[in-house]
Amino acid sequence: MLKRLLVTFASSLIILGASINASQADKLTLYCSAQEDWCQLLARSFEDATGIDVNMTRKSSGETFAQIRAESSNPKGDIWWGGTGDPHLQAAEEGLTMEYLSPMRDQLHDWAISQAESSGNRTIGIYSGALGYGYNSDILEANNLPVPACWKDLLKPEYKGHVQMANPNSSGTAYTTLASMVQIFGEDEGFEFMKGLHKNINQYTKSGSAPIKAAGRGENTIGIVFMHDAVKQAVSGFPIVVVAPCEGTGYEIGSMSIINGARNLDEAKMFYDWALSADAQNLALQVNAFQVPSNRSSETSPSAPDMSQIQLIDYDFKKYGSSAERKRLLQKWDEEVSVLPQ
Ligand code: G6P
Repeated sequence: MLKRLLVTFASSLIILGASINASQADKLTLYCSAQEDWCQLLARSFEDATGIDVNMTRKSSGETFAQIRAESSNPKGDIWWGGTGDPHLQAAEEGLTMEYLSPMRDQLHDWAISQAESSGNRTIGIYSGALGYGYNSDILEANNLPVPACWKDLLKPEYKGHVQMANPNSSGTAYTTLASMVQIFGEDEGFEFMKGLHKNINQYTKSGSAPIKAAGRGENTIGIVFMHDAVKQAVSGFPIVVVAPCEGTGYEIGSMSIINGARNLDEAKMFYDWALSADAQNLALQVNAFQVPSNRSSETSPSAPDMSQIQLIDYDFKKYGSSAERKRLLQKWDEEVSVLPQ
């Protein structure tokens, strides 16, 4: 009797040990650079679909890039989902992320695949969205300010203290803004634009979408953001008007990459394939994320900005996502723009 009990006890221990091992293996560390609510929803939905525990951290694109680089000798993250494509391309070039050919590739739009091809398949497009700005129409009216329609309008002295954007070092949105101005106006004029804009900026935030959230709350007037982030505030009932600037504008290919040296590589690949599926991409609609999804069968909300109606520049992702160019532009902005008096 005692012997049988001991055998049962011993085998329970083995089963317990096995399940601890299984649960140790079934986990994923996700670095997420899109909106917090979308990151949370993705993490929970993947857990529900697979039973894999997800440990998610949300940080802006430039910040996540810097973290992955700092951790490269002892990587802690497995997969980086979301955020603008430029720092994902830089990470690919610096060998911080790994090549992966997902079986889901044939379901994707060409722009998602060309992002992959220009990185040696170390990153891939998951969504796209156009840059622009939004303004709080109540505050604009209350302050008797003119209605802006172009990038150059934002330089008007009347807007002093009324414009907010993120810091391009931490934020992919703000880096896209800097790189877009250089591409629209040429480098010299683009930097003159950034210097003029600096005089009107009330605060450089860490996260790209913060300026339009502040405008929604009535704490800021104009926020330079991706247009879909401004639409999100408008559909939430805030008095936000979305502007596609008259000179044309840049755009992002929001991307995903597997971190080189990922401890949970199988789980990272599972997440990667799942995140490219139409079902996973349709989760965006539940949190009013109005980007254009990369899976051709995903749904796009009728509230999403219509990219075919926006004058988009031919954004050179290869150049502006290259390590040398991103470093150079950020350093130039630090030295020539951010230090100027306001
Ligand atoms: C928002 C947008 C995303 C974009 C991201 C970049 O979340 O909705 O489309 O990729 O900003 O964030 P960041 O804070 O790096 O500008």
